[in-house]
Amino acid sequence: MEGQDAVSSEFPSVLVDDTEDTMGPSPYRAAIFHLRQGLQALSALSPGPDDEKRSELEQLLKMQRQVLQLLHVHFAPEGDENGVRLFGDVLRQHRVDAGLTQEQVAAYSGLSLSYICKLEQGRKPPARKSVLALCSVADLKLVPAEVTALPAVRESSHRQAPNWFMSPGFDSVSMIDELDQLMNSSGGNVEQTFVYLDHKSALDWIAVCNAPGYVASYRDGLPGPPVAKRLREVLGPVGLDLIALGPGDGKNEVALVQQLIRVWAEPNIRFYLLDISQPLLSRAFKHAVDTFIDHSGIFVCGIQGSFHHLPRYAQLHYAPARSHRRRIYTMLGNTVANLDHEPLFFQNAFSGAAPGDILLFDLDFGYTTLIEEDEILRKDPVAKKPLSELQQRFLGGPIQRYCREAQSVTFSCRIDTDRPIAGSYGLQYVATVGLPGQRTKEFCMIQARRYEPNSVIRCLRKFGWESLGMFPFTGSETRPRGLFLFQKQLPKTRH
Ligand SMILES: C[S@@+](CC[C@H](N)C(=O)[O-])C[C@H]1O[C@@H](n2cnc3c(N)ncnc32)[C@H](O)[C@@H]1O
Repeated sequence: MEGQDAVSSEFPSVLVDDTEDTMGPSPYRAAIFHLRQGLQALSALSPGPDDEKRSELEQLLKMQRQVLQLLHVHFAPEGDENGVRLFGDVLRQHRVDAGLTQEQVAAYSGLSLSYICKLEQGRKPPARKSVLALCSVADLKLVPAEVTALPAVRESSHRQAPNWFMSPGFDSVSMIDELDQLMNSSGGNVEQTFVYLDHKSALDWIAVCNAPGYVASYRDGLPGPPVAKRLREVLGPVGLDLIALGPGDGKNEVALVQQLIRVWAEPNIRFYLLDISQPLLSRAFKHAVDTFIDHSGIFVCGIQGSFHHLPRYAQLHYAPARSHRRRIYTMLGNTVANLDHEPLFFQNAFSGAAPGDILLFDLDFGYTTLIEEDEILRKDPVAKKPLSELQQRFLGGPIQRYCREAQSVTFSCRIDTDRPIAGSYGLQYVATVGLPGQRTKEFCMIQARRYEPNSVIRCLRKFGWESLGMFPFTGSETRPRGLFLFQKQLPKTRH
């Protein structure tokens, strides 16, 4: 298995589920004993106030630890209890070098604090899945660099791996039932998740996002090349886990991966597609698999689930052999702008993100910084424009199909000046549903937003994401929008 190969170069013999109960040969034990003695003796040396001496001593200690590690890597017998202790030493050393506390390692790896303590003290042999969880904490750097570019033979084992997952609690039938109840209620706000759920919604959305106007203003202008270049500069030659949240038909996300392939010399990419809509997910999955069929370095995986539940999907955060890999979360196609409360979403959905992870999403910019209805109506060309026929079919579809009394549906645009990100405003597309007896009810079917870029950057900074740049869409003079790139920082230590 691929995970097995990836971790074995540093922790070959201490894993609970791949040890044999054999005693190690005594020369190995003797060597370990003497090297550890040496390490202890070196640690006891006092370099005095001389900076140069102190740094020499640090060098010596580092080299001695490396010798111990190499001895372990190449000569450790299976099941040796020294190995367990050495694992603890290695873990502690990497943790200290990364400037992390045991609590932080526990939080990032999803393991318990007491377990981390026991591992470090050599009181417990680590289970394979725990080693993998620890390897997923990128800053621990637990796996040597040579496993970064996994060879093709490992990729072929990827191809035999399961490639379609159902996330915990996912139940598409209940979601349709909820949509049905919502459409037969007295009206209100429809959370954007519901407009993509059934097959007809998926078909209608595919028609919207492949209409010539959308392709010209969005898809053709996606600044994939500069974003890929910047990512390569920042991340270096690591493996990538690209987690596409809400990929729709997958075309924008696949185009982005194609750009990454162009700048990564030997790409090793796990391309996860996570969508709430089964029909859209199968469309995106098929498109991705068809595109990368001949590419041994790309593994495609479909996940049925909600991006609102991202923290529950531990598998995604702690996938095997994750050390020296970086996660890239994407939300393309104006998905962020449709959310009910963007800051809350950033705070909650990415609570499992590890330092070094990347977040990439697009936003439209405001046509005015004066957040007043009349000004917005005057300046924003879209606010006055009626929805296209395709958009009306897409957004009106759930009402026509599920609202039992609906006789007609008409759309209007309402301006929302009360947004949580400073300088942003919203356009709410409200469906007025005609009912028997001249009655009506209203649903806000979708919301679009416009943003002030610096406020977005400030908002993300509050949640530990630092901007790596903002990339305007090409030809976006008439419809100004950009791709925002962020990287998760190490948590600030409290003094
Ligand atoms: C605006 S579309 C964007 C599609 C695609 N990224 C693009 O660029 O064309 C939003 C996508 O998010 C998905 N989506 C909506 N709510 C979701 C949720 N709660 N969890 C996962 N996916 C969701 C929809 O099914 C749809 O595929």
